[in-house]
Amino acid sequence: MPTDARQITLDVSEIPKRWYNIVPDLPEPLPPPKDPDEGPSRVRELPNLLIGECLKQEMSGERWISIPDGVRELYERAGRPRPLFRARALEEVLDTPARLYYKSEFYSPTGSHKVNTALAQAYYAREQGFERLTTETGAGQWGTALAYACALTGLRCTVYWVRAVHRWKPDRLGFMKMLGAEVHASPSDRTEFGRSLCSKDPDHPGSLGIAISEGLEDAKSDPKAVYSLGSVLNHVLMHQTVIGLETQKQFEKVGDYPDTVISCLGGGSNFGGFALPFVGDVLTKGRKIRFIAAQSQAAPNLQGEYRYNFADHAEITPLLKMYTLGHTASMRPIMGDGLRYHGCSPIISLLRHLGYIDTVAYPVDEKHVFEAARTFMRCEGFLPAPESAYSICCAIDEALKCKQAGEKKVIAFNVSGHGFMDISGYREVLGIA
Ligand SMILES: Cc1ncc(COP(=O)(O)O)c(C=O)c1O
Repeated sequence: MPTDARQITLDVSEIPKRWYNIVPDLPEPLPPPKDPDEGPSRVRELPNLLIGECLKQEMSGERWISIPDGVRELYERAGRPRPLFRARALEEVLDTPARLYYKSEFYSPTGSHKVNTALAQAYYAREQGFERLTTETGAGQWGTALAYACALTGLRCTVYWVRAVHRWKPDRLGFMKMLGAEVHASPSDRTEFGRSLCSKDPDHPGSLGIAISEGLEDAKSDPKAVYSLGSVLNHVLMHQTVIGLETQKQFEKVGDYPDTVISCLGGGSNFGGFALPFVGDVLTKGRKIRFIAAQSQAAPNLQGEYRYNFADHAEITPLLKMYTLGHTASMRPIMGDGLRYHGCSPIISLLRHLGYIDTVAYPVDEKHVFEAARTFMRCEGFLPAPESAYSICCAIDEALKCKQAGEKKVIAFNVSGHGFMDISGYREVLGIA
């Protein structure tokens, strides 16, 4: 492949055959989930909460985990592998000496990277004989991805969708329903926990932590159903490593390699999926890379405390060691609502604690971030998801620093999704009439 290629592609046969599990390469053992001092054991409940194969992967110390042929086939149907683009037009407009590359998870059939784990989880759930998956969603991207995975694998799907977002994305709601999913604004009247919150505030805006609690409660009451989580957990990040593994191969093809790796971060699955294979290079091959997680000041979880905390509002999950704002923290809704989660995945949190990951948090009004998305769109032609705009904004800010310093850095960033269903959010923030 010519080194000046704009689109760096892979063959279908190059879809990764194994996921990368970073756990054995971490500089320190990953703190395991644990129980709170009081109340029933959540850790002993895990086999009743999660898909069996996913729980096995969650605890695995194996560096490489084979991707079943059936999942690789689903990845092919979902359009993998996805191109890596050299953002030459953006480089020119920014007048930066930096070389910018972005991965195109926006080509996903549902609009985001989330399908990478949705397909794997639905595949394993069907293998185990389950008939229905329940879940939470914030931006709506994860709910759509799971609805899609359930449609392809013949499962039913129930989605609890953070009310503040459910309200302004009617098209995404229609999308999930077209795929056959049952969707409830959360908090809902479908669960005891949801009803307890609605009785205090019928217009409660909800949060991912609350929606997770509702999904868990629903699945626990139905032996044919199991809960599926779209981020945070080790196995979810591991499924997402197909993004970074493909990207590494694509860099090899053009004989380049990144100095800076950037992505947005809510619970950590997209950042982890893109960055962890490169973190592996730093830990095992002595490579030097700066990693930056782009966040919102509405939920700067990586600037919170590093401690054990629940992953959900109702305290159904075990405690996870993570950077957290507190599992009952109230966070202002934003358009990039997929970034509004109180805690960050234990793997990324440990890496941050050990100094491997930097973070930046952008203002809640999202103006700077959405302006960056507009610049990107006008140069490169792709409309990013509001969450992905944070990744783009951080990459542009870094490229402009390179311009000031005259540095020819190589910056890689992931555009985790498209924004075709988020235009009203852009219009509101950017004042487009
Ligand atoms: C397009 C997109 N990118 C990124 C994220 C952030 O989530 P995570 O950090 O778990 O990847 C979301 C979450 O909904 C999303 O929809």
